[in-house]
Amino acid sequence: PINEMGVTPAMGWNNWNAFACSVSEDLLISTAEKMAAFGLRDAGYEYIVLDDCWSMGRDSKGNLQYDPAKFPNGMKSVAEKVHSLGFRFGMYSDAGSYTCARYPGSLGYEEQDAITFASWDVDYLKYDNCHNQGLSGTPKITSERYRTMTNALRAAGRPILYAICNWGEDFPWKWGPTVANSWRMSGDIYDSFDRPDPRCPCGGDEYVCAYPGSHCSVMNILNKAASIIDTSLPGAFNDLDMLEVGNGGMDDEEYKAHFSMWAAVKSPLFMGNDVNVMDAKALSILNNPAVIAVSQDPLGVPAIRRWRYYVNDTDQYGQGEIQMWSGPLYGGDQLVILLNAGNSARKMTATLADIFCVAAGIAKEIKEDWDIYDLWANRMDDATAQSIIDSGSLDAASVKSFYYNATQTSFKDGL
Ligand code: GLA
Repeated sequence: PINEMGVTPAMGWNNWNAFACSVSEDLLISTAEKMAAFGLRDAGYEYIVLDDCWSMGRDSKGNLQYDPAKFPNGMKSVAEKVHSLGFRFGMYSDAGSYTCARYPGSLGYEEQDAITFASWDVDYLKYDNCHNQGLSGTPKITSERYRTMTNALRAAGRPILYAICNWGEDFPWKWGPTVANSWRMSGDIYDSFDRPDPRCPCGGDEYVCAYPGSHCSVMNILNKAASIIDTSLPGAFNDLDMLEVGNGGMDDEEYKAHFSMWAAVKSPLFMGNDVNVMDAKALSILNNPAVIAVSQDPLGVPAIRRWRYYVNDTDQYGQGEIQMWSGPLYGGDQLVILLNAGNSARKMTATLADIFCVAAGIAKEIKEDWDIYDLWANRMDDATAQSIIDSGSLDAASVKSFYYNATQTSFKDGL
């Protein structure tokens, strides 16, 4: 890892999925206020991140300027307000001459811009890949372009978590740990469980598509992650993109699966919804302390896919499938996920040999008896979640008591 930050996957909120370019200081501050009031800050969501479209260009000395119509009190005051609410503040730039939405990029201005971000008290930088002047195509070229900012941030002297966003181009999982705290490994997420954006494919070429933006369903991203996820390390994680929980394109079970999987594979967890219209179900997914504990497990080892079977319930979006993912947790526990990405309910079985990826004889010796905890068993009920949303307040004592109750998970006899 490049620094001592982000040992567990970063958590927070980013405006892009729900608001795209409609950014303002009011949006960031009102979101931070709501997240604190709903108990989400205390649940672990730490960073409030401003994505693209905040800029107005450069001044005569080349310094980045924020748009004063969107940020009338200035970026430093936004950071101050976000900090006073108990969060850290993130911003966005691009390792190219323009950002994806054609605002100024930082290529060639890395040191100057890192100093600007540090002077605004920024704690996190998301660093995109658009308009990169052809400086890509090999891991060496791309990693060096990103490393220029690693060094610039270090020289600027403020601890800034560094999240690069080059959509898996040039194998960032091979060089990411020496460059950044996390790297995007796919095209942008689309708010659908298994249907990619019908306008464009979720492939390597989505950024030449006429509709830039999101194209990859949850299953597209997971199936790509399956082959590379074991490259994540504490402080250096594959980023599966921001969450869509609460944005309306998936049903409750699909959002539970999306959130569970992102936590299991140690992806950064950035809420991507509008907290002003958050419903009870979204809140009780995002604040599930048992699943968050998996994400923030001190071991920091991603679950990996142990098996995958195609099933017959194919629909118009493709072949149905079931998968089993598993991985170690701190203290000798083991995470097991039975992921049904088909279209009908089905019974699924996982043997100890599958779960630990060992021969059956060895599996018997691992341990005869396991207690099984269902991490969704004590999900906050709708009425409680709704009352938190309505009153806009959850005092620290009730957060605590909810945590205590929610972590008392049910268990059955051994496997
Ligand atoms: C790219 C990124 C997105 C978002 C937009 C902003 O598409 O992958 O996450 O930051 O740019 O323009």
